[in-house]
Amino acid sequence: MRRILSTNLLRRFILFDRNLPFSSPLSAVKQGAFVLNLCRKASSDSMDLSHMRKKYKGDEECFEENHLVSVDPIKQFGNWFDDATKCSEIGEANAMCIATANKDGRPSARMVLLKGYSNDGFTFYTNYESRKGVELESNPYACLVFYWEPLNRQIRVEGSVERIPAQASCEYFHSRPKSSQIGAVVSRQSSPVPNRDYLRQKNVELQEKYKDTEVPMPEYWGGYMVRPYSIEFWQGQTNRLHDRIVFSKLKDGETLGEFQHEAEGGWVYQRLSP
Ligand SMILES: Cc1cc2nc3c(=O)[nH]c(=O)nc-3n(C[C@H](O)[C@H](O)[C@H](O)COP(=O)(O)O)c2cc1C
Repeated sequence: MRRILSTNLLRRFILFDRNLPFSSPLSAVKQGAFVLNLCRKASSDSMDLSHMRKKYKGDEECFEENHLVSVDPIKQFGNWFDDATKCSEIGEANAMCIATANKDGRPSARMVLLKGYSNDGFTFYTNYESRKGVELESNPYACLVFYWEPLNRQIRVEGSVERIPAQASCEYFHSRPKSSQIGAVVSRQSSPVPNRDYLRQKNVELQEKYKDTEVPMPEYWGGYMVRPYSIEFWQGQTNRLHDRIVFSKLKDGETLGEFQHEAEGGWVYQRLSP
């Protein structure tokens, strides 16, 4: 009885929800949370989220090939990245999800911060002995995903991964606040610890130890560069005809496909069905 009542209540709210105005992306987010809360009430053992929907861009705002600022995907990345950094609703435009896989192909993913990009690739810093570090050492490929929700944009980068030179890692390490440097030494990332106090105490000890001296960069810490072989730009459209333009590198001897266009720097691009 309770289940039937709450399901009916949910349906009524969802009808009401469809009439809510989407005055801003923020209100759309609030609306999403509103529907999510209702869904949570719908059932204690499963959540039906099938009605969660957000308004994307109108067809007149679509992302056409002639909207590319450049057919160099790194320059196009830079253009969208700049838009994201200027967007006040985006707290950390450089936050990206990085997926890795172990040598058996089992995937894992987590957020990290992009700390630089160039024609060579995308750089982030981490602990080489962490789960992602161990996976990258045995299977040096990764996929990065940026999602800038207020802009309805996503970028996916796939590439091979390599450590950056230790000297470059060292320079970045020492450019960080001392507390972050100590944090990197304290944390043997991804390894189990008995409790929080263990880390707290280690932090205090190291603060004391390095009070008057430079913190040496641990050999298990540093940067990785993802060297891209595919970069996909996705922009959401309300009518679900989302835009997807993917740049990739032709392999040796490979010729342009039917819908592929030549781009810059050895890249080609084509539109994918959403
Ligand atoms: C927004 C955000 C940014 C993060 N940035 C980093 C980072 O730059 N480097 C890093 O090692 N971990 C970062 N983390 C923590 C990772 O998500 C993750 O917990 C940690 O790296 C251990 O992952 P692993 O056990 O899969 O190796 C960040 C987390 C969040 C939510």
